Amino acid sequence: MAKRETWATRVGFLVAAIGSAVGLGNLWQFPFKTAGNGGAAFVAFYLIAVLLIGFPAMLAEFVLGRRTHRNAVDAFTELGHRQWRVLGAFAVVTGFWILSYYNVVGGWVLRYIVGSAQGAYFDAPAEYFGAVSAGPEAILAQLVFLGIVVGIVALGIEDGIEKATKVMVPSIVLLMGALAVWAVTLAGSGEGYAYFLTPSLDAMVANAGTAIPFAVGQAFFTLSLGMAIMITYSSYIGEDDNLLVDGGVIVVVNTLIGILAGLVVFPILFANGIDPALEGGASALFVAVASGFGGLPLGEVIGVIFFGVVALAALSSAISLMEVTVAWANDNYDVSRPVLAVGIGVALFVLGLPSAWNVSYLTWFDNIAYSLLLPLSVLLMVLFVGWVLAGDAVAELREGTDGVETFGPIWLWGLRLVVPLLVLVTLGLGVYELFLAPEPTFFAPFSGS
Ligand code: PFF
Repeated sequence: MAKRETWATRVGFLVAAIGSAVGLGNLWQFPFKTAGNGGAAFVAFYLIAVLLIGFPAMLAEFVLGRRTHRNAVDAFTELGHRQWRVLGAFAVVTGFWILSYYNVVGGWVLRYIVGSAQGAYFDAPAEYFGAVSAGPEAILAQLVFLGIVVGIVALGIEDGIEKATKVMVPSIVLLMGALAVWAVTLAGSGEGYAYFLTPSLDAMVANAGTAIPFAVGQAFFTLSLGMAIMITYSSYIGEDDNLLVDGGVIVVVNTLIGILAGLVVFPILFANGIDPALEGGASALFVAVASGFGGLPLGEVIGVIFFGVVALAALSSAISLMEVTVAWANDNYDVSRPVLAVGIGVALFVLGLPSAWNVSYLTWFDNIAYSLLLPLSVLLMVLFVGWVLAGDAVAELREGTDGVETFGPIWLWGLRLVVPLLVLVTLGLGVYELFLAPEPTFFAPFSGS
């Protein structure tokens, strides 16, 4: 079998991982969940979840990938724990499941770039969204989005993913930054910032039941954890980087982009007299924000730039998830990468058809992933690294740090006790919301209403 690929540069790995993390979760869900759950107080909550749970869990995935240089399933065999492969397989399946509907939403975004240029949704945004988000139009858009993703992944790690994300990620940062600066000039900017970032402890307490699992779920989703992405990406690391530094950079940049997105979105809404509290879920971006563009000078241009940024973010996330399955197939079968990518693309397309046909399927897929699959996957992974891999994990983390890090033992006990405990609480609340609550208040990223 051919030699396994690696990233050409350390920056290549970092940028690709940032591209994976920065996605629809940041640009769309983070601002709205923050606003709806206590503003700055929620941001604090989320930051704690990222630090206490997300960051250690990310390091756990890094260690698995870099130590084995294998896909997420065979990594366990490589470590001498063959019976745990099922755990890797679960993460891969979780990722596959998520990508099936993420492609559909990616398709909507592409469609909205065209719609913005034409001003197509300016007059009747809700009707436009209804027309393009489901049925044949959505299926076609899904196909286009998936085609781009397959094309990039088919080109390989260095020539495909690394090259693409090196252009995409800086573009996202620059364009989002430019939009945030432009948003300062809007009449509603002050009100928008206040809504987004003024702390409200009362709102936090009142919403705690959903805000806590959401903060934890958001930390997983936004950092691309539990879907085997970070295992796969770190398996292509050539030399030993300092994983602590890499993880820190990814977490910080990812959080800043989420905040930047809020600084763009809320001024637009307030400038147009739209109440963000009434607009959760799918309609937040595609109806509420979109309708704001219609009321602004040069709305077409702003709309194209805005949805262009969202598209880049969605694409650089989707390719990371596609790579998870392609890596597994590539390590196991002597079939060329492009053929594998196309084959897996077809399977994803089929699994995504219900979501493209009707948004309520998409919501269902999303709820299952967010409340059940993701937390379970992260839980099993951290337990494995904490209790089974244990000392070997600490040794691996130490590689590339010039022997100076002393974080290892603390990290290990975090993975053994703190993270599982917090994830269990989240899982419990999620399962309750999903199956038992009299009036479920879903907190999944793409759920409607
Ligand atoms: N971190 C990504 C986001 O915030 O959108 C999560 C993700 C979802 C990555 C779906 C990849 C993907 F296909």
